Amino acid sequence: MTGSSNAAHDQRIGQAAEPRGRVIALFGAKGGVGTSTVAVNLGLCAQQSRAKESVVLVDLNLQAGDLHLLLGLEPAHRWREMMREASRLDPTFLMSLLAKHESGLHLLASDYDGLGDTLLNPELVSRALLILRSLFDVVVADCGHVLHPATRKVLEQASTVLVVTALDIPAMRRTTRVLEVLKPLLGNGHTVQVLVNGLDRNDQGLVAEAEKALRHRVAWHIPADPAEARSAIELGRPLCAISQRSDVVQTYRHLASALTGEEPPGDDAAPHRAARWLAKCLKLVTRKKTVKRLS
Ligand SMILES: Nc1ncnc2c1ncn2[C@@H]1O[C@H](COP(=O)(O)OP(=O)(O)OP(=O)(O)O)[C@@H](O)[C@H]1O
Ligand SMILES: [Mg+2]
Repeated sequence: MTGSSNAAHDQRIGQAAEPRGRVIALFGAKGGVGTSTVAVNLGLCAQQSRAKESVVLVDLNLQAGDLHLLLGLEPAHRWREMMREASRLDPTFLMSLLAKHESGLHLLASDYDGLGDTLLNPELVSRALLILRSLFDVVVADCGHVLHPATRKVLEQASTVLVVTALDIPAMRRTTRVLEVLKPLLGNGHTVQVLVNGLDRNDQGLVAEAEKALRHRVAWHIPADPAEARSAIELGRPLCAISQRSDVVQTYRHLASALTGEEPPGDDAAPHRAARWLAKCLKLVTRKKTVKRLS
């Protein structure tokens, strides 16, 4: 962060500006579909495209929040401190609870082993989110796959809710249900987008089938890359930090750019490559080559 952007950030902490930052909430259709992986890589790509520190990740998965592991961070503080010292909740206290990744991306970590049955206070979560929106331009929230009252508060503030799913029958069934619940809950003014994670190249024809089954467009699909995904976890570094040009990384950059309104950084060839890749996928999807039916 430069001296001037540092000063601007400090000023924002002191003043608690308007909550202008946009919230992108990720909700998993079920466990293990890659919600946290998408959250971390989306957050990182959004941060990488900005000169100043302006993106914060919020881990609201109360059962198995592991964003810090995916970022290789050992957070000193978590939601627990905020719940314990609710009366202290202001921009300065909240900033002191965040962990910081080398990229400038910030993280409010989940209580991985702690909260158990003690759910987060929804009102406090709502207030914390408003403060984070006054401090950061983009808030990316991993809401796990369970709809808690606290999670609802985050979804309500989100401009975009990404429903993360996979192309298998249990995940598709759950996605149908999640969409049924989220659409009336959120109403107009929120965009609910479906993202299929870990799409095998051979299954690209199934995206159109999935759209028919869900009666909802699949806005995004992230290619499967098991080897890179495994290295990322082993290294404690997000995919977008270890690899620059893979299809997965290009798709994440495109996703971050579309959802957070900032151009991908540096590599001039990247957008063209991503566009070519997406066009190729689109052609494959529209080709009437149905491999197998989803249901
Ligand atoms: N594009 C991908 N290609 C292959 N594997 C992937 C991809 N994205 C994520 N994975 C792998 O899928 C597994 C589950 O990912 P992740 O932990 O992000 O899922 P989750 O939905 O957050 O799970 P949980 O329900 O435990 O919170 C991980 O092993 C991860 O490396
Ligand atoms: Mg997760």
